[in-house]
Amino acid sequence: PGNSLMKHYLQFKDFRAEEYAYLFERARLIKRRFKNYERYQPLADRTLAMIFEKASTRTRVSFEAGMYQMGGSVVHLTTGDSQLGRSEPIEDSARVISRMTDLVMIRTFEHTKIEAFAAHSRVPVINGLTNEFHPCQIMADLFTYLEHRAPVGANGYDLGCLKGKVVAWVGDGNNMANTWLQAAEILGFTVHVSTPSGYEVNPQVAGIRSSDCYKVFADPHEACRDADLVTTDVWTSMGFEAENEARRAAFADWCVDAEMMAVAKPDALFMHCLPAHRGEEVTAEVIDGPQSVVWDEAENRMHVQKALMEYLLLGRIG
Ligand code: CP
Ligand code: NVA
Repeated sequence: PGNSLMKHYLQFKDFRAEEYAYLFERARLIKRRFKNYERYQPLADRTLAMIFEKASTRTRVSFEAGMYQMGGSVVHLTTGDSQLGRSEPIEDSARVISRMTDLVMIRTFEHTKIEAFAAHSRVPVINGLTNEFHPCQIMADLFTYLEHRAPVGANGYDLGCLKGKVVAWVGDGNNMANTWLQAAEILGFTVHVSTPSGYEVNPQVAGIRSSDCYKVFADPHEACRDADLVTTDVWTSMGFEAENEARRAAFADWCVDAEMMAVAKPDALFMHCLPAHRGEEVTAEVIDGPQSVVWDEAENRMHVQKALMEYLLLGRIG
């Protein structure tokens, strides 16, 4: 393992629009093979290490099932059952784990931790969520949007159809919000952001070049007006549990409900990265309603991540 062309995937902006077009086309083909029970095992003899410092359902299942389907194997580590929880330096862990595996996925707290790991890793590192970013999720969300709304051309989905679209972000200025802003800047759409005061997105943390890719709205209904996609997330992200009570009070008006969906475009989709809390950030009517594509969104984590792992390990196919 180890080569000079090695890429990591730590933030959405690590890839260009043209790389996303390629990845979405690979994901589409890989998904089709999966649905047809066609064996596709280009990652035989490759090993993915997955390091979880926070809980997960979707990220674990999608990476683990995806890697096995592609012929590889996985090693699952958590803080509690590895030396990571007994203060072995992250740099040392990176040196060791990356000498025995081909690819590493990490879910952790501060983004600086995954950067430190990547800086000492011999193999590509994938961000499976940090306090600041969740790029694999936004890749799945965009793929889901394209599946539902874009025609398939000779080269797959035309990412040009995302230009000028409006994504309404209702809720916390968190890792998902930051990643949406990066995606908007790269792919040419606009995010209408509405957060309670004190929970705004911070463009510096989001790592965007300019503020052209988003607009701020005090009223969440206004953020949803004429949106092509309405999306939200938990009020309290992992690692922020101590703020739970204060957040419940502050976020009470940031519940995506039928009224918000009614002011969005008639064909607007609803997305949520999950896990969801019905009656908090979204009503049951909306998340279980006809505009919601949350189950496709969850499933697509696996298909886009299979394309991502293939790309990081084998480069472009064909
Ligand atoms: N959306 C998402 O990343 O889910 P998990 O926390 O279950 O992995
Ligand atoms: N913002 C949430 C996303 C969970 C997938 C969190 O960080 O906990």
